[in-house]
Amino acid sequence: MAAKIIDGKALAAEIKEEVRREVAAMTAAGRPAPCLAVILVGEDPASKVYVNNKKKACEACGIRSREILLPADTTEEALLEEIRRLNADETVDGVLCQLPVPPQIDKMRVIETVSPEKDVDGFHPLTVGRMVADRPGFLPCTPAGIIELLKSAGVDPDGKNAAVVGRSNIVGKPVSTLLMRANATVTVCHTHTRDLKAETRRADIVIAAAGVPQMITSDMIKPGAAVIDVGIHRRPDGGLWGDVVFDEVSQIAGAITPVPGGVGPMTVAMLMKNTLRAAAQRRAAQVKGNN
Ligand code: GUN
Repeated sequence: MAAKIIDGKALAAEIKEEVRREVAAMTAAGRPAPCLAVILVGEDPASKVYVNNKKKACEACGIRSREILLPADTTEEALLEEIRRLNADETVDGVLCQLPVPPQIDKMRVIETVSPEKDVDGFHPLTVGRMVADRPGFLPCTPAGIIELLKSAGVDPDGKNAAVVGRSNIVGKPVSTLLMRANATVTVCHTHTRDLKAETRRADIVIAAAGVPQMITSDMIKPGAAVIDVGIHRRPDGGLWGDVVFDEVSQIAGAITPVPGGVGPMTVAMLMKNTLRAAAQRRAAQVKGNN
């Protein structure tokens, strides 16, 4: 039987509508709309698309957005200075720098310079630490979106075997943490995993986040498993490929996300949620500070 297709685009639209309503309530109460600052260094075409998607989502939610475009030869210090300026800017609630950054810039220094109060990407080590320790804080957008996608498909990770393929800081590691928090038994697979197929075949939930086009095939999937495809790769014919061979895996899986229209839109929707939350927390702190 063919898998249920998990519609990330529709779920993202619902979440953005919820954010839009809350933003409207905020402005109706006389408080300024949230504001997200997005920095893009250089001309990477994929990054330009992602930044533009973020801007469009902000518009749809009534969130103000500020785009800071810096040339590819920007020095690390100039970028860090820009981030510090945005950290100090009272009119800005969320700050992010689109990754990857050019090679002369140390990505970790960029991430560590964003103020934790404005860390809507959820990448700062303090934010990561809070997540791992089950403390309140921003959750990274793609992993949080994956959990929402599973929930929407009626897949409760509690007691299930989950295989996460890929151990990146942005997806593999944090989604493993969130699946653990949701009471799954989690196996993280990577390039040194001896028998990947044996690991994925045991899994009720497979998160494909290795960044390798079309690496997950139907023989690697247990019948009825939920498969979340985080990969996004440009095909030679201009289309998109995920990490999963959709046509064959969708014949075996119980539920599967498409590419495009699965994880991608959810990442942006969760960013809108984080930006609203950053603004709400900052407004609340300002009120407290004035009393
Ligand atoms: N590059 C790929 N994914 C992301 C993301 O979620 N945030 C940022 N800032 N850069 C990215």
